[in-house]
Amino acid sequence: MSFPPLVARGLRKRYGDTHALDGFDLEIETGAVHALLGPNGAGKSTAVNTFATLTRCDEGEVRVAGRDARREPAAVRASVGLVGQHAALDEILFGRENLVMFGRLYGLPKSAARERADELLGTFGLLDAADRKVSTYSGGMRRRLDIAAGLIRRPALLFLDEPTTGLDPRGRNEVWQAVRQIVDAGTTVLLTTQYLDEADQLADRITVMNTGRVVAEGTAQELKRRLGGDRVLVTAPAHADLDRLAAALGGTADAELRQVTVEAGPDGGAAALTGVVRALDAAGLVVDDILLRRPTLDEVFLDLTAAPAPSALPALPASTPSALAPQTARPEGAHR
Ligand SMILES: Nc1ncnc2c1ncn2[C@@H]1O[C@H](COP(=O)(O)OP(=O)(O)O)[C@@H](O)[C@H]1O
Ligand SMILES: [Mg+2]
Repeated sequence: MSFPPLVARGLRKRYGDTHALDGFDLEIETGAVHALLGPNGAGKSTAVNTFATLTRCDEGEVRVAGRDARREPAAVRASVGLVGQHAALDEILFGRENLVMFGRLYGLPKSAARERADELLGTFGLLDAADRKVSTYSGGMRRRLDIAAGLIRRPALLFLDEPTTGLDPRGRNEVWQAVRQIVDAGTTVLLTTQYLDEADQLADRITVMNTGRVVAEGTAQELKRRLGGDRVLVTAPAHADLDRLAAALGGTADAELRQVTVEAGPDGGAAALTGVVRALDAAGLVVDDILLRRPTLDEVFLDLTAAPAPSALPALPASTPSALAPQTARPEGAHR
């Protein structure tokens, strides 16, 4: 019997008046990249730190590969890796020394720690820089070394908390490449991000969260579809009769933009565009511009995270929150 790498149900965590997690549910699949996408303060780090047993929730249940994170934290910790939002590297040590040090901390004998360090340096293209101080590394190199440190114990599940925040485009690409390598090697990845294009690029599934709750979940395609389909935007010349244009096209007029929006039907944007051109021709109308617009993930994200009432959204896949007694034990010691 195989368990999902991670299942979380009904997580609640309060900091004073802040509900960092407010009935949060998540389930991820083996061998995939799952993105937890949300704006700053959404609760992403609280969620990931809870999964890694760094933070104790007030309520709710976390199971990692079937193991209860509250009852068996040591077993859970041994099977996950966490690359936190803030780098855990020692700046004055060489790259290789950092990895050897983490290996030793995890109890590897010296020779095994060295071997694993070199293996990971090779995987992430850092062998040439292995004997340089981390303080001389670029942002992308530091991040890759940090990720390598999270992989020393070959976790089945790796948490990457905002791995590309603060990196330049080149550094981001290097980290994306590293994430793809990790998944190709069979590790399941849960990554948090504020960047839609990152989720779009890397993730098989995306969970959008805000104010401690899930507001939507699906593939990038599914999320885009939720915002409605393609639309054709027709811009009228000055002094044109906008209402007549809207009526001829079966669209809605925006007087300020002098624009008519035509929603595409089930046949999609290209068919709608053709229909618009035919209708214009038939009515003998002249326009300034015609544009086919497809919704972007940015629009979906803004739409979802701006909405204060998740109840207004379509129902999410059924989950089975289980009521657990509030946890009173103190948080476990820090680890990565
Ligand atoms: N240790 C803490 N003490 C007080 N408030 C916290 C603490 N950690 C997080 N919060 C608050 O909980 C909310 C969620 O934070 P966080 O999980 O860090 O969000 P994200 O990682 O999505 O930016 C925020 O409002 C944040 O200020
Ligand atoms: Mg965070």
